Amino acid sequence: MKFVIVFFAMSIYMYAISLGQTLFEGNCVTCHQIDTEKSAPTIQKVVQVYKMRFSKKEDFVKNMAIWLIKPDTLTTLMPKKIQKYRLMPELGYDKDTLQIIAEYLYETYI
Ligand code: HEC
Repeated sequence: MKFVIVFFAMSIYMYAISLGQTLFEGNCVTCHQIDTEKSAPTIQKVVQVYKMRFSKKEDFVKNMAIWLIKPDTLTTLMPKKIQKYRLMPELGYDKDTLQIIAEYLYETYI
């Protein structure tokens, strides 16, 4: 029984991670490439800056999602990138979707 529960929990976790990847690749990669900076900071850089500020996963996910709902020059962690590229546009996703993406990013990039 225990095994079944652990297996079930793991499947849900894996599902959330792969959903996060699909959402990221469909909606963010056009601007945020993995390691070449073009029209926006690389996703590696974004995750690095967020992890320096929010080392706990819970804080990272919550704060990134809140910022993405309404990008804001006052609460940005990357003011120089706003100067260079202008503020990231609002994408209109709900908080749950953005949290799934943020969780994927936390787990995937160092
Ligand atoms: C149209 C281009 C574009 C798309 C699409 C885009 N971004 Fe951005 N994003 C930017 C630019 C430009 C910046 C740097 C300026 C800034 O921080 O506002 C940025 C900054 C960020 C930041 C740093 C926030 C801060 O503190 O300033 C995060 C986190 C982020 N993007 C996540 C995402 C995620 C996740 C997605 C997909 C759901 C996404 N972006 C889609 C252009 C984009």
